[in-house]
Amino acid sequence: MTPRLAVSRISLSEFRCYQTLRLDLQGGPVVLTGPNGAGKTNLLEAVSLLAPGGGLRRAKLGEMARNVPALDDGAVRAWAVAATLETPDGERHLGSGLDPAALVQGRERRAVRIDGETQRGQAALGRVCNAVWLTPQMDRLFLDGPAARRRFLDRLVYGLDPEHSSRVAAYEHSLRSRAKLLRDGKADDKWLNAIEDSMVRHGIAVVVARTELLAQLVRAGTMAIGAFPAARLALKGDLEDWLAELPAVDVEDRMRASLRDGRRRDAGYGGASVGPQRSDLLVWHDAKNQSADQCSTGEQKALLLSIVMANTRLQSRSRGAGPLLLLDEVVAHLDAERRGHLFDEIVALGVQAWMTGTDRALFEGLDGRAQFFRVEDARIRAEQI
Ligand SMILES: Nc1ncnc2c1ncn2[C@@H]1O[C@H](COP(=O)(O)OP(=O)(O)O)[C@@H](O)[C@H]1O
Ligand SMILES: [Mg+2]
Repeated sequence: MTPRLAVSRISLSEFRCYQTLRLDLQGGPVVLTGPNGAGKTNLLEAVSLLAPGGGLRRAKLGEMARNVPALDDGAVRAWAVAATLETPDGERHLGSGLDPAALVQGRERRAVRIDGETQRGQAALGRVCNAVWLTPQMDRLFLDGPAARRRFLDRLVYGLDPEHSSRVAAYEHSLRSRAKLLRDGKADDKWLNAIEDSMVRHGIAVVVARTELLAQLVRAGTMAIGAFPAARLALKGDLEDWLAELPAVDVEDRMRASLRDGRRRDAGYGGASVGPQRSDLLVWHDAKNQSADQCSTGEQKALLLSIVMANTRLQSRSRGAGPLLLLDEVVAHLDAERRGHLFDEIVALGVQAWMTGTDRALFEGLDGRAQFFRVEDARIRAEQI
């Protein structure tokens, strides 16, 4: 059997609309259909929490706890998501949730377990599992500010380089610490230097990893599948420009100097005038040579899928297994030809794609090649086929 990354069992407790849920899976694509408000996206969100990060809604831990209006007790319940995964390294057990021990003390903290062992933070999840998603909220990815595009890109990088999530987290931690020190005006020079050193080290590594992913996507020549348009990608930012021109050590010096010189200004404005938090991902419809934000809504969706599928192919090749794909309400917006190509590509790559929709008929092309579930009122029933 070819190696793959797939959830073979998932259980939820007190998560969103689910009091308890257990689902056994065969490893292939999963189709969830049902009316609005049934619990489809909630289940995808639970799966997304098996990978590092705050999940596909970026919700606060307490928000994901099941609230029971009838009880009106205002209590936050300790929710949990547990799963068994088939991975290229064998079977692994992951658990993620709201730490009950912290909750008793009135704190909300994420608990993460891998193969029964408690982890300090969630970055370790990235060594076992990664997931990439497209949700209706991401329809505006090319129109809104660059932060969401960076998050999208970083998630693709996690799949290729599991250490990327720790680097991003370390950089952001230093960025926040520096901002606080500057704001409070308690800026001890030595302390600031140390924090800025960490920003330089992690920040440049983040930009290098992003650049490397883009280069690999281009080298793999995998930007177009079937009826989907090819996307052309580029990164824009000072660090990217410097790295293209100068040796890495000089870029480090330049960034360090720039941070030191910018302290006074950053104290007033917050943030930092240089760093990976100022980069943007630029995307074009290659054949039309048109910037993605100028493309039609349908074209933008197709471009996003192109990128996600190109990344999936690249990752299957380089790491032996693609990511979990969470495609929330994506299929309904594709014409029949693109839908067919997407299904074939998913099956050919052997990735576990979780797809949702209200209309079962749109998934006919996957009959016999996927597991189908009907979701209604927070209950899930396997479809007999
Ligand atoms: N913390 C929560 N506790 C209980 N129910 C929730 C919670 N968060 C969301 N819900 C409810 O879960 C239901 C299903 O939501 P969702 O999974 O987004 O539906 P859909 O099937 O349309 O994707 C909604 O009615 C929503 O209000
Ligand atoms: Mg939904």
